[in-house]
Amino acid sequence: MNSEILFRPLTVKSLTVANRIVMAPMTRGMAPAGIPGAPQAGYYRRRAEGNVGLILTEGTVIDRPASRNLPGIPFFHGEPALAGWESVAREVHAAGGKIGPQLWHTGSTRAGDWQPEAPVESPSGLVGPGDPRGNVMSEEDIADTVGAFAVAAADAKRIGFDLAELHGAHGYLIDQFFWGGSNQRTDQWGGGRHRRTLALRSRDRAGGAGSGRSGLPYLAPGQPVETARLCRPPRGHP
Ligand SMILES: Cc1cc2nc3c(=O)[nH]c(=O)nc-3n(C[C@H](O)[C@H](O)[C@H](O)COP(=O)(O)O)c2cc1C
Repeated sequence: MNSEILFRPLTVKSLTVANRIVMAPMTRGMAPAGIPGAPQAGYYRRRAEGNVGLILTEGTVIDRPASRNLPGIPFFHGEPALAGWESVAREVHAAGGKIGPQLWHTGSTRAGDWQPEAPVESPSGLVGPGDPRGNVMSEEDIADTVGAFAVAAADAKRIGFDLAELHGAHGYLIDQFFWGGSNQRTDQWGGGRHRRTLALRSRDRAGGAGSGRSGLPYLAPGQPVETARLCRPPRGHP
């Protein structure tokens, strides 16, 4: 197989990358107080120096209560955290790379026993069918969350990132809106498949409007609740 194309530049809208090697977002849990800084700047700079064309950062959370599911996840809000992220973008650019934060809200999921300071929130107060946890989001909560995604996307642009990725997979908040098993709402945010995607479409639009660029939504064809499916999987796929 000819892999030469991997090393050619690529332009997508306003983004030009030096090659087509993209680093997937990978949680590190190395920001105990939620504040990234020199360790993160060095870590991502080394990947750019190693010729990764585009880096998607580890998941980093928007400004909502209980939006992270582990204590070491970095914030993407508040000046100390944003100053740290600004240094990350600066270092990656100095090494010739491009970078975008993966914006997170982990909904009602939890990784391990750690509990956040506030109750978790989700479309219907469920992790999945028959598995209640935390608060049902009100209209006001949802509007605030859409706004928090938009602010994070605008901040990403302001502090020098090249794009932002909205995390819409893994059973986290946006994904919890997709699935009938975790979204049992009867208002505009629930019902048929089209309505269950409104949360993503609103956040994507808000993110795009907030940053002046298109967001990159990240979707995955399954979630931890195995009985939940957005669509029938292709033949042969479990
Ligand atoms: C240590 C580790 C941490 C990860 N953290 C995240 C994350 O923060 N956000 C995310 O969307 N995916 C995360 N993933 C999933 C990866 O981004 C990627 O989608 C997964 O490894 C599958 O990649 P593949 O389809 O190329 O095998 C993580 C994977 C690993 C191994």
